[in-house]
Amino acid sequence: MRTTVGWQADRPGTALRRVSFERRDLRADDVAVRVDYCGVCHTDLHAIHALPETGDARLVPGHEFTGVVTAIGPDVTRFRVGDAVAVGNIVDSCGLCAMCRAGQENFCTEFPTLTYGGTDRHDGSTTLGAYSREYILRDRFAYPLPSDLDPAAAAPLLCAGITVWEPLRALGVGPDTRVAVAGLGGLGHLAVKLAVALGADTTVISRSPDKADDARRLGAHDLILSSDQRQMTAARNRFDVLIDTIAVPHELGPLLGLVALDGTLSQLGHLGPVTLQTMDLLIGRKKLSSAGSGGRPATAAMLEFCAQHNVTADIELMPSARVNDALDRLGQGDVRYRFVLDLSDLS
Ligand SMILES: NC(=O)c1ccc[n+]([C@@H]2O[C@H](COP(=O)([O-])OP(=O)(O)OC[C@H]3O[C@@H](n4cnc5c(N)ncnc54)[C@H](OP(=O)(O)O)[C@@H]3O)[C@@H](O)[C@H]2O)c1
Ligand SMILES: [Zn+2]
Ligand SMILES: [Zn+2]
Repeated sequence: MRTTVGWQADRPGTALRRVSFERRDLRADDVAVRVDYCGVCHTDLHAIHALPETGDARLVPGHEFTGVVTAIGPDVTRFRVGDAVAVGNIVDSCGLCAMCRAGQENFCTEFPTLTYGGTDRHDGSTTLGAYSREYILRDRFAYPLPSDLDPAAAAPLLCAGITVWEPLRALGVGPDTRVAVAGLGGLGHLAVKLAVALGADTTVISRSPDKADDARRLGAHDLILSSDQRQMTAARNRFDVLIDTIAVPHELGPLLGLVALDGTLSQLGHLGPVTLQTMDLLIGRKKLSSAGSGGRPATAAMLEFCAQHNVTADIELMPSARVNDALDRLGQGDVRYRFVLDLSDLS
């Protein structure tokens, strides 16, 4: 076994603490990655809040990271020691089911192995994430990091980026599409950048009037204030695709009202059960969809597109020792637009 250092959550409401823990010895198709930068995703907060109040639960979050390969198993041919790589929130899948064969490992019928809180397919252990200095994974789920992408600002592409990229592509977003993005946070700001780079007419829907300047700087053409009924009414039936990244439970009806005839609301936040008036779908033959993470081909394509179009996240980089500060501020909506931890302070 190999020892690494990381930040562990034990129960909701308590600070993450620095711990040493074991990583497995490399299997034949494994790579070891020195984690340099890891984004702080709102899902990390949801996962910490969902920890049991008692017991020995153990969570090391972190599922969007970049780093450098430090060792490879004997069967690995795609990487060499020293290669820059990027890893997202899936580190294994069955490889055989129809979803895996279609390149949608994110929907593997045996369930993909998540980067943290997942179950290893070989030894049954619970995976521990990349708020840590070293990560070991099956080489298929590491991606070469294009050299023109800044490794810190690229880390959030691997969860926030791919999660919005797949629905944008699946819904055919391009120059003739009117796109709206609800919630200008980690996912939302990358959805805006990617939709703009795909040529779409792009609008932000936000509860925060002070984000209007940012929305324009990110390339959006307009910002609708969700609390302003007049603006919401004026935008009825306007958008072919609405990407909803709001991180808290909310009514879908007002957003469906903004979707155009035969358009789609792609709801991406982890909200739990939602209620819906079917009439909000019926009028305008509207569609409700969702998405999560991405398959290997789409992830590689997204990284290539980002390198070509110079798309990375707007980040606030901080030493990993400030992880609790980052999580607190994320919970308060005080982030523009992604915290990224620099793990070099764990060496
Ligand atoms: N489907 C997937 O695979 C997947 C992957 C990653 C994340 N997620 C989920 O997607 C959601 C967004 O993640 P993120 O990392 O982008 O979060 P984030 O950076 O916190 O952004 C969420 C945005 O939601 C809006 N919001 C937050 N609190 C709100 C409130 N109380 N009322 C109304 N709006 C509020 C804010 O936008 P405005 O200030 O502009 O209104 C905020 O910037 C989370 O639920 C996360 O767990 C899902
Ligand atoms: Zn995430
Ligand atoms: Zn599968």
